[in-house]
Amino acid sequence: MKSFGVDIGGSGIKGAPVDLARGDLSAERMKVLTPHPAAPPAVVDAVCQVVEHFGRRGPVGITFPGVVVDGHTLTAANVDSGWVGTDAVDLFAQALGLPVALLNDADAAGVAEMAYGAGRGRGGVVLMLTFGTGIGSALFVDGVLVPNTELGHLELGGKDAERRASSAAKERHDLSWAKWAERVDAYLAHLEGLFSPQTVIVGGGVSRKHDRFLPLLTRRRAEVVPAQLLNNAGIVGAAMAAAKLR
Ligand code: BGC
Repeated sequence: MKSFGVDIGGSGIKGAPVDLARGDLSAERMKVLTPHPAAPPAVVDAVCQVVEHFGRRGPVGITFPGVVVDGHTLTAANVDSGWVGTDAVDLFAQALGLPVALLNDADAAGVAEMAYGAGRGRGGVVLMLTFGTGIGSALFVDGVLVPNTELGHLELGGKDAERRASSAAKERHDLSWAKWAERVDAYLAHLEGLFSPQTVIVGGGVSRKHDRFLPLLTRRRAEVVPAQLLNNAGIVGAAMAAAKLR
């Protein structure tokens, strides 16, 4: 079955049709730059551009980098504050003239990894983390998602964890892999103290270079594994949510 997903990220807004039998894109994705400031009208325009490019006529799944409850966006750590309290599903659905499912970006990536990637067949407590502009989290208990966990905003070394341990923080502070891995290790230790996950899936763009830092995370009880869907996890997870609208 063909569905359609759009992933709103800090640098790009990417979308593609998705083949749900394979959990993969069925056409090359289209990417437009995320407008700055990433205020609602500009982001909605960009999403419309991506969806119209494919002439999509059915439901569309969209990810958002903040808390999403009942179609409303409630936080906006890395996008314009104009999103806070917005009925975003209504906004997108009106602009596209199509049914829309909206969910947190890390939740979407996690759902896709659980179905088609590193989380397949893994029960118990599984924690997916995405390291990018911020840190996203998706928590699963026997495959069931607890949405909007926002664990990137736990306190780490007196700061918001994503300020210290995201991949943007690695670049901002020009940290070596070893120095950054120390911070990620401390973050994971904190998470293990709270949730005792059996598996931690490490995703986000940086997971492509997992061999540079996963071997340095030596103190963990959980099995720490790299994500498998890489850049497409958000799009696939969004498309899975859209398919549920039918
Ligand atoms: C946001 C999360 C999001 C994560 C990754 C955080 O700053 O609060 O909702 O999942 O960034 O984009």
